[in-house]
Amino acid sequence: MNKLLISLLVSLGITGVAHAAGDAAAGQTKTAVCAACHTADGNSVVGNFPKLAGQNETYLLKQLNDIKGGKRTVVEMTGLLDALSEQDLADIAAYFSSKKVAVGQAAADQVAAGEAIYRAGVAAKGLAACTACHGPNGKGVEAAGFPSLSGQHAVYIESTLKKFAAGDRANDPASMMRDVAAKLSDAEMKAVAQYVQGLY
Ligand code: HEC
Ligand code: HEC
Repeated sequence: MNKLLISLLVSLGITGVAHAAGDAAAGQTKTAVCAACHTADGNSVVGNFPKLAGQNETYLLKQLNDIKGGKRTVVEMTGLLDALSEQDLADIAAYFSSKKVAVGQAAADQVAAGEAIYRAGVAAKGLAACTACHGPNGKGVEAAGFPSLSGQHAVYIESTLKKFAAGDRANDPASMMRDVAAKLSDAEMKAVAQYVQGLY
């Protein structure tokens, strides 16, 4: 997707993104309960708990609102956000976003296949390159609400792609990720997930 299209989507509000005005220092004091799974600085060490460190603030705030409001189901977090205000969520988003992500490593035998999908898509299937929205270094586009994938656990990326493909996660604006994921085979999901784990 080119810059013009992205700015069009943003100005039309299609990405459904609210503007965050969070205070990272205040946010840190509200994350004790999160540390059990995501760790204190957001660099979780367990593959199915996503890293939050360095994630784009706008994206984090949207996910927190979606999880709290039931648009995205995370059973492990049931009830955890209920008592938090919009300001609390914005502060928490600012806090984790301010941390530096600890990038992992891609499995050597998956890099070539993963990189090809990430950078070029699969033309025969009409699959867009991930770069178009998640950027050449995987940092996403803050203003558009496109998340950073850089350094994220491959286990989480792969299971998330499966959830989008099956429609079990359906909080992506304009079905952007469900459409992408539905075109990926299991082997392609695995390869691209390994690739982004080492991407920065
Ligand atoms: C018991 C473990 C657990 C705790 C405690 C927990 N989370 Fe999570 N969190 C998860 C899991 C598991 C997921 C991913 C679920 C999935 O696969 O979609 C997740 C997803 C998220 C996401 C979405 C990340 C993304 O990349 O889309 C955010 C944001 C988040 N958690 C924030 C928090 C915050 C803030 C707290 C504390 C108030 C918290 N979590 C507490 C387990 C936990
Ligand atoms: C047209 C733009 C677009 C393209 C192309 C695209 N994505 Fe996305 N992606 C998004 C958006 C927007 C979201 C956030 C959805 C939301 O708000 O919940 C997202 C979310 C994701 C997530 C979830 C991140 C998280 O932390 O939970 C993964 C994984 C992902 N994309 C992988 C990919 C891969 C791999 C490709 C290439 C095969 C790709 N995306 C191509 C727009 C795109």
